[in-house]
Amino acid sequence: MKPVSMLDLKAEFPLFEKAVRVAMDEVLESQHFIGGSHVAALEEKFANLTGAKHAVAIGSGTDAILVALMATDISPGDEVITTPFTFFATAGCIHRAGGKPVFVDIESDTFNIDPAKIEAAITSKTKAIMPVHLFGQCADMDAIKNLAVKANLVVIEDAAQAVGAMYNSQAAGALGHAGCFSFYPTKNLGGFGEGGMVTTNDDDFATKVRQLRNHGQTDQYHHTMIGGNFRLNTMQAAILSAKLPHLAAFNMRRNEIAQQYNEILAATPSIRTPRIADHCQSCFHQYSILTDQRDALREHLNSQSIGSGIYYPVPLHLQPCFEFLGYEAGDFPVSEETAKRILSLPVHPMLTDADVKRVASCIVQHQSETIPAGATYPAGATGRS
Ligand SMILES: Cc1ncc(COP(=O)(O)O)c(C=O)c1O
Repeated sequence: MKPVSMLDLKAEFPLFEKAVRVAMDEVLESQHFIGGSHVAALEEKFANLTGAKHAVAIGSGTDAILVALMATDISPGDEVITTPFTFFATAGCIHRAGGKPVFVDIESDTFNIDPAKIEAAITSKTKAIMPVHLFGQCADMDAIKNLAVKANLVVIEDAAQAVGAMYNSQAAGALGHAGCFSFYPTKNLGGFGEGGMVTTNDDDFATKVRQLRNHGQTDQYHHTMIGGNFRLNTMQAAILSAKLPHLAAFNMRRNEIAQQYNEILAATPSIRTPRIADHCQSCFHQYSILTDQRDALREHLNSQSIGSGIYYPVPLHLQPCFEFLGYEAGDFPVSEETAKRILSLPVHPMLTDADVKRVASCIVQHQSETIPAGATYPAGATGRS
């Protein structure tokens, strides 16, 4: 039985190995490891990719969020609205920047922040909204931006999972005031180590992010702001530039795989496949289904050597470190229910059609053997939504 894993970086590597080795050699020969032309070249390519006027390379996705919040001048007491159903870094950085994360529940079918619930969370202290384009699908940015304009708020996209994702005809990262990306090795554009990027159309904001990423210095050893070391190293920039030409094809393959899953799983109403909104083109960082039998199904897949992932098992308002925010179980029921039922399936671009069929068939078989015929997700629902 051929194993199907969540990720297969070894299988991808030969596709760009030559270009990456050439790029790495260039860096080695230059003995220039911080900044320089490779970083500038990646920034230019990334700005072109997203359509944002500026792209500023940062050492990780987490630091991209942190520095974007620092450049927004988040100060103690400022509230930043975000989703509790995300990777920890989103809210962790809001706190580290001095702000207070204010959570708003998600939509049950896209897993992104529910714009209909944002207005009630806006107070006189709200400074920004940080939507997360979870699993590669943009949040409902028109609705979010309308609310932000009305309340004079900054919108910072957590686009860590959304490189190449589109919303109408615009790319993630060019939709809000700033976009924050991750090049963690498992991401759609993954480095050989940590990496990130901040995008923006605002000249002053870009200048500020550039300054903050280098300890806030204007000229060497002259500091007008307190920043940090948020720089992307030259080797990562060279590697990412060499991998970038493959991104579009990889994202397209992820979409094909998602379509194949959708088609096969359509006949199994106890599984809810992800909804992609009409105006969105996901880059399918993850393909995540909902099922009432999540843990049993995962065990079954595991027994068939098929990988799967749970993103995320505990919503952030229930994390012990955020207890001081005062939230309780039940505050965000959609996030809490989703955390119990979500399962991400392999969707990496090196999967063959046969792999995808095997994963989907295993799911169909498991459901037909364990669930009464006609059972729906959620239990008792009529039809799919
Ligand atoms: C939604 C989200 N935000 C932020 C991050 C942080 O990025 P990094 O791991 O590059 O620091 C990640 C990466 O896992 C993420 O998925």
